Amino acid sequence: MESKTNSGSIETVIKESRSFKPSTTFIAQAHINDPAHYERLWQASQENPENFWEQQALSLDWTEKWKRVHEWNEPFSKWFTGGKLNVSVNCLDRHLSRHGNKKAFIWEGEDGTVTTLTYRELHQKVCQLANALEKKLGLKAGDTASIYMPLIPEAIIAMLACARIGVAHSIVFAGFSSNSLRDRILDAECKVVFAADVGYRRGQALDLKKTVREAVQECPTVKATLLLRRDKQTALVSQELDWNAFIEGQSSIHVPQSFDSEQPLFFLYTSGTTGKPKGIVHSSGGYLTGVTTTAKWIFDLKDSDIYWCTADIGWITGHSYVVYGLLANAATSVIYEGAPMHPHPGRIWEIIDKHKVTILYTAPTAIRSFMRSGDEHPKRFQLDSLRLLGSVGEPINPEAWMWYFELIGKKKCPIVDTWWQTETGSILISPIPGVTTLKPGSATRPFPGIIVDVVNDEGHSCKPNEGGYLVIKNPWPSMLRTIHKDPERFKEQYWSKFKGVYFTGDGAHKDEQGYFWIKGRVDDVINVSGHRLGTMEIESALVSHPRVAEAAVVGRPDELKGQGIVAFVTPRDSREKLDIHSLSRELKAHVVNEIGALARPDEIKFTKTLPKTRSGKIMRRLLKDLAAGKQVSGDTTTLENPGLVELIES
Ligand code: PRX
Repeated sequence: MESKTNSGSIETVIKESRSFKPSTTFIAQAHINDPAHYERLWQASQENPENFWEQQALSLDWTEKWKRVHEWNEPFSKWFTGGKLNVSVNCLDRHLSRHGNKKAFIWEGEDGTVTTLTYRELHQKVCQLANALEKKLGLKAGDTASIYMPLIPEAIIAMLACARIGVAHSIVFAGFSSNSLRDRILDAECKVVFAADVGYRRGQALDLKKTVREAVQECPTVKATLLLRRDKQTALVSQELDWNAFIEGQSSIHVPQSFDSEQPLFFLYTSGTTGKPKGIVHSSGGYLTGVTTTAKWIFDLKDSDIYWCTADIGWITGHSYVVYGLLANAATSVIYEGAPMHPHPGRIWEIIDKHKVTILYTAPTAIRSFMRSGDEHPKRFQLDSLRLLGSVGEPINPEAWMWYFELIGKKKCPIVDTWWQTETGSILISPIPGVTTLKPGSATRPFPGIIVDVVNDEGHSCKPNEGGYLVIKNPWPSMLRTIHKDPERFKEQYWSKFKGVYFTGDGAHKDEQGYFWIKGRVDDVINVSGHRLGTMEIESALVSHPRVAEAAVVGRPDELKGQGIVAFVTPRDSREKLDIHSLSRELKAHVVNEIGALARPDEIKFTKTLPKTRSGKIMRRLLKDLAAGKQVSGDTTTLENPGLVELIES
C-alpha cells in the first residue's frame, strides 16, 4: 500500500483524510484489479441489482434452475424461486473431484493440539451424521435442531449435516445461560440438541453439559441431545445419546435431496429493542449466493490461501465467513477453540506464523486488546504470510486501523472494514481490496448489487457529511426473510420507519466521495465487543430479581470494548439494610445467570428514582450522559421529576 502523506500521526490521518491505494503487488494478483472495469460493473449493479445477483447465483450448483430471480411482496422477499439446490452439496460434494484432499479446516485447540479435515473427510463425516439423523431420529426437512457447542469441527459437521437433510439449525453461542438456551430451543421448537460436554478456553474446562441439561429439561419438543463426550469421565443422562456411538457404522455415502431455494437454512437469535430476542430466518439459495460472492470478492480468495476468521460459529460471522461462504469457495480455514491471548498475549500471532495464515478477519475490540498488550508481542513473530486483513462487528477507530495496518499488515496488506448484520446475512459495505482506496475508519462503499443511503428523519437523502440513518434501498438475496413466528415484528422493526426501505438501526454519514462512515446503533441496542445486546433484555433480567423495582440500561463508551454496560437500578424497599456492594455483585451474577456472561453489567448505579418524561418513558439520553460521566445535556424540561437522578451512594 502506498500512503498519500508522509506523517504517521493519527491526527494527520483524520485531518488530512489520509487514504491508501492498493499496492502494485496486491493489485497484480487480485481477482478484481481493474478500477475502471469494476466501476462500470458497480454502476450497472446499482441500476439493475437483480441482474448482478442472477449472474452470481450461476456460480452455485443447482439441480433445478430458478424460474424467477426475485419476488417482492413488500417487505417479504423470495430469491431464485423455483430453483432447487442442496447447500451442503455446494459446500462439499461439488469440490471433491478437484479438492478432495485439500484441507477444509485446520483446527487448533488452546493446548496446541491440531486436527485437520480435508474436504473428503469432512464430506464423509457430514454424510454419516446425516444418515444417522434420518435413520435413527427420523429427522426430515422442515425440522429444527439447536447447536450449543464450542468451536470444534463437530459443530460444523452438525451444521452441514442439518443443511444436507433440510433441517434448519439454530446455533446458540456457548456462553449463553441455560435460560437463554431454553428460550431459543422453545421458540424454534427444536427436536434435537447437538452439544459437547465441555469447552476449553482460557485454561479452563467450561461445563457446557450442565447448561444444556438445565435447558433441555424444560423443552418438551427435544427428543434427544447428541452429546460429544470430550471428557472421558462424562456419563450420559436420560435423553442423551453418545455422539460417536450414534454415528458408528453409518455409511459415509449419503444421497442428498435438493431443496427449494427458499428453504430456511438456519435461525439465528439476536437482540432487538424489546426484551425478547428475535429468531432471524435465513434462506438457502439467496443466502448462499450472497456469502459465496462476498467471500470471494472481499477476501480475494485464492486456492492457496489459509484464511482465519476468529469469530465463533455462535455468531453470524461464524455462519457466513467461517462456514458457508468459505466452504462454498473450497477455501482452507483455521479455526481455534481458545482465547486469542491465551496462554500468552502473542498467541494469535503465533498461530498465524504456525499455519502460515494469509488472510486474517477479526474484530476491532480484539485489535484494541492486542494494541494494549504491547507491540512487543506481534514483533516477536514474522507475520510475513499475511496478505489481507479484515475487520467486522463495530466501527474501527483510525488508531486501531493504523496499528493493524502498520504493525500487523506491515503496510502491505489492505484492510477490508466490512459492515453488515445478522439480518443482512452477508457483507453489504466493504472495500474490494484490489481496487478500493482505503480510508481508515470507513467501510468505504456498498458491495455491487446493494443500494445504500443515509437519510434524515423524513427519509430524504442527507447531504454529504450530514449524519443520518443508514438504510438499504433494495432487497438483496441474503437478507433475512422474516423473524421466526413474528412477521409483524419483522415489518415493524425493519420496514416501517421509512417506506419501502430497510432500516439498519445504525447511524452514519456519507462523504463527498460516496464513502460510508458508520457511527453505531441509534436504537436501544448496544454493541459490546462486537456483540449485540438489547438494553431491554438486560433490564428484563434485572427486574426479574426480587430486590429490583426498576431498571434502565444504557451503553457508555469503552476504550476497549467499544461500549460498556451501565445499569441504573432502583431497589425495592426492603427490611434488609441496603448494602449496595453486595447487591451489585448479586445483580451482576443474576444477569449472567439469566442471559450469559456477555451481558454482565460493568457498573450498577443505584438511584432513588429513574428520570422519566411525563408520559412515563425513561429518559435514556440523560442516563447515557450520566453513565459516560458527562454533564447532562439537552432539554430536561419534559422530565416528570427534574433533577431527580439521585444516586444512592455507598
Ligand atoms: O452497528 C453495526 C455493527 O454491528 C451491528 C450488527 O451486529 P450483529 O448483527 O451482531 O453482526 C455483527 C457482525 C456482522 C451493526 O448494526 N457493525 C458491524 N460491522 C460494522 C459495524 N459497525 C461499524 N463498522 C462495521 N464494519
